[in-house]
Amino acid sequence: MINRPKGTTDLFGEELKYWYFIEETFKKVTKLYNYREIRTPIFEATDLFLRGVGEETDIVQKQMYTFEDKGGRSLTLRPEGTAPVMRAYIENSFMKDGLPQKFSYIGPVFRYEKPQAGRMRQFYQFGVELIGSPYALADFEVIRLAIDILNTLNLHNYKLYIGNIGCKNCRPKYREALKDYYQPKLNQLCFDCQKRFNTNILRLLDCKNEKCKPFQKEAPNTFDYLCDDCRKHFDELILYLDELDINYELDGHLVRGLDYYTRTVFEIKHSSLGTQDTIIGGGRYDGLIEELGGKSTPSVGFAGGIERVVLALKNENVNVPKLPNCQVYIAVLNEKARMPAFKLSQNLRGRGLIVEIDLMKRNIRNQMKYANRLNTQYVVIIGEDEIERGVFTVRDMETGQQIEVDEKWIENYIVEKFEG
Ligand code: HAM
Repeated sequence: MINRPKGTTDLFGEELKYWYFIEETFKKVTKLYNYREIRTPIFEATDLFLRGVGEETDIVQKQMYTFEDKGGRSLTLRPEGTAPVMRAYIENSFMKDGLPQKFSYIGPVFRYEKPQAGRMRQFYQFGVELIGSPYALADFEVIRLAIDILNTLNLHNYKLYIGNIGCKNCRPKYREALKDYYQPKLNQLCFDCQKRFNTNILRLLDCKNEKCKPFQKEAPNTFDYLCDDCRKHFDELILYLDELDINYELDGHLVRGLDYYTRTVFEIKHSSLGTQDTIIGGGRYDGLIEELGGKSTPSVGFAGGIERVVLALKNENVNVPKLPNCQVYIAVLNEKARMPAFKLSQNLRGRGLIVEIDLMKRNIRNQMKYANRLNTQYVVIIGEDEIERGVFTVRDMETGQQIEVDEKWIENYIVEKFEG
């Protein structure tokens, strides 16, 4: 017996109604903002993530699925979507079409993490990247878009957190302040944080270890260390959020797990999800394209985790559209009825109905049982008698009523019933 790998899942049956709802809502809302879909490869050169996500991040240090292909190249299953989209932007010279460029994507990403509810090793992200605008207008647009997606999904119990981690000019000062603050406490921190103190000190602020948490509250606040330009950018974003009625909470300790962020960072958390409660995360990354070899181009974006949004929909008991059922089952009484059954099924499918015919050569009793199991609305029964007289028997499975009618009637009546 071979089982699926830890941290992965098989998606099927009723569960998929949540996925379709999220994917369709995402496509609908991003279309309204004129984002264009982009599909990049599932694997990329490992260097893309070393340079893009950052060598000192947990993602690169601990979580990548990296392998060598038969040609000796180091490849990595993508652990996130932003660096690949920027790689594609540079490689395909999208900049020649002018700025801004707005992309959306949905697809699987891979991280070697300890699996638990809402934390998978293969999970799905939906996301957008807005390339080219340095202004807080762009930060506002992607945040507005993220909120629109959640509202269109009929979710309510979420909260937006806004932070600002400064830029390459002011962040060193903030880092210094953090160092001064943490230095005397160093031997009380967890092993990872003692290491991160030297390599990636911002991450001390979101360590989940109980040893480290008590020190986070009093740590210096990012907002107090912003340079004038970052402060202006921050104030402008806050003005838009306030004026345009978006609720948020400021978080001067909000840091993210990827190194490419500059200035605005944000997360949307859902109150029902426990420790893995971030359903959407994003921010501005003005240095990434240059880091990857392109011309310096400021950009901003976000990604959401579909598995977590599914959990949020379930926890909030949101009514999601049902999966469609079979609408017409065509039962055959004998072999002679097969050809007319095929023809009728094609006609009805041509009119947009969901139709099944007998594929198991079952007797009529078992065909009716099967039709019941399918939850189909109508069964059309075709036998010799029916063929001779040019009529079919139609059974409405809801009322149990059975009538004899001709083919035109079936098409018109049933099609109208479903359209109505
Ligand atoms: P991220 O915060 O690493 O950001 O991931 C985005 C979202 O993916 C999270 O908010 C969460 O909902 C989901 N997620 C992350 N890890 C897991 C996991 N192990 N299992 C299930 N869901 C998970 C990024 O990936 C950035 N690329 C976002 C971005 C786009 N920033 C700018 N543009």
